[in-house]
Amino acid sequence: MERKELSESKLAELREAVRPYLKPKRYLHTLAVEEEAARLGALFLPERVNALRASALLHDITKKDDLEKQLQYCAEFGIIYDIFDRNSPKIFHAKTAAELARRDFSDYVDDEIISGIRWHTTGRAEMTLFETIVYLADYIEKTRDFEDCVELRRFFYDGISDPAADRRECLVRTMVLSFDMTIRQLLSDGAPIDGDTIGARNRFLREAAEFEKK
Ligand SMILES: [Fe+2]
Repeated sequence: MERKELSESKLAELREAVRPYLKPKRYLHTLAVEEEAARLGALFLPERVNALRASALLHDITKKDDLEKQLQYCAEFGIIYDIFDRNSPKIFHAKTAAELARRDFSDYVDDEIISGIRWHTTGRAEMTLFETIVYLADYIEKTRDFEDCVELRRFFYDGISDPAADRRECLVRTMVLSFDMTIRQLLSDGAPIDGDTIGARNRFLREAAEFEKK
């Protein structure tokens, strides 16, 4: 799929088009993720800011759908799932949203925008910078008041505001902390941990170790 460079007016159109897919509270969250993705994009991937914003606008479009609907999407789009997905709507929605975005929003998406949606919940070992930004924007956007989110937001912005800081290192350390928090939470809930999440943590941990050597 060809890369999409979305104009400001196209983004405004998309912002209205996604509204019916989201409950009012999640719509506000979605707008905040768009804003955060723009901020992070300006720091790390300026040439893809509008694509990041599109990915943010679409990342939760199937979150309100129940299990029956999620399974319907799986059948329709040929999505493979396992018993963990069935029990974890949180993980399910990233898979179905990516495919629904491809079908319903084909004018607005490209492969990178789709993969930002696909990996925004679990992460993965091969996470790209684009996927990393969508993931982190979802975690630290300004309306999140869950303790871990507040802490992670502070950790990242404290780090990045230090003029001597290496931006990339700050991002990598923030990602390690985010996966630590997520995995700790899953353990305390007795919930399964997706293999992709473990892979993602290891990948950023490895990169963090590289900075130590320097
Ligand atoms: Fe979200």
